[in-house]
Amino acid sequence: MSQTNADAVCAWVDQVLGHHKHNSPAAQASAYAPSNIALSKYWGKRETTFNLPITGSLSISLAEHGTRTGLSVVDAPQHEVILNGAQVDASSSFAVKVCQWLDQVLPADLKLRIDTHNTLPTAAVLAASARGFAALTLATNSLMGWQLPEHQLSALARLGSGSASRSLWHGFVKWQAGEQSNGSDSVAFPLASQWPQLRIGLLTVSSQKKAVSSREGMARTITTSALYNQWPQQAESDLATIETAIIAGDFETMAKTAEHNAMSMHATMASAWPPLVYWLPESLIQMQKVWQLREQGLPIYLTMDAGPNLKLLFEAKHQADVEAAFPEVQVISPFE
Ligand code: PMV
Repeated sequence: MSQTNADAVCAWVDQVLGHHKHNSPAAQASAYAPSNIALSKYWGKRETTFNLPITGSLSISLAEHGTRTGLSVVDAPQHEVILNGAQVDASSSFAVKVCQWLDQVLPADLKLRIDTHNTLPTAAVLAASARGFAALTLATNSLMGWQLPEHQLSALARLGSGSASRSLWHGFVKWQAGEQSNGSDSVAFPLASQWPQLRIGLLTVSSQKKAVSSREGMARTITTSALYNQWPQQAESDLATIETAIIAGDFETMAKTAEHNAMSMHATMASAWPPLVYWLPESLIQMQKVWQLREQGLPIYLTMDAGPNLKLLFEAKHQADVEAAFPEVQVISPFE
């Protein structure tokens, strides 16, 4: 990040926190944040230091599938990062990102132990940075007694990872792109609609870390893919269709638009140079199985992020059929 951009982030953080930045911390605090899966995707930044998106996006949170982060003050020269019980090497990209975020929001002499746990064992590496930065933001708010309104917490979480702005709530969440250069209006908020019958099926093809990060993938797609030109318009139109379908309780329109949105995002990625293909041969086998089942009358749809794994969208009444077709699927009930 350039010095000017880093200074702009510091200035914005200082403005948001005001004198609370120097509050005395509690001895410890902890918070939970769920994973989220975008139904209408975020793919492309208009600004990279504040993580400001080109378009809005809309997600569904995965209930008890998330991260719990505990914080405590330590008398040490550096922060200590623990992930699922094991100390994380300070030079790893995860520890570097976490420490960078903390150093932006805390007084310079305050060092913390960050103890972060995934709540459900799963093979899928799901939106780990989204739920991680959302839980870290909520826990820091509590430790420091900031008592910030939710939209400012969403903006602070976004500094760690764009999609983290959507992981502060359960249910459907919309992240509006905003227009301000410091991102003060690029914040997420929960939608009121509840869909107790909605199910998300996690189909894990590989749990390996992705070879190209979302940050690099987005930059490469924007600079080299001619197909990206159509993406912002489609993304905004899909978002509006999905939001209307959610309010109307129209599963077919919501799920069909989500699948089309994901396939279109992957097509823009594939037309980047060098090509960005996150799928593995097994991903395609599973995708074809979904399309075949749908042709046979089972209303099941898929979405995929920057990785090889599938997320299935279906309703509770079809859960037994989906589990019979995909014995390895892990089913999440986002509203129960
Ligand atoms: O927030 P990031 O930088 O991890 O990017 C997330 C990108 C996608 O998962 C592909 C889409 C999305 O909206 O979550």
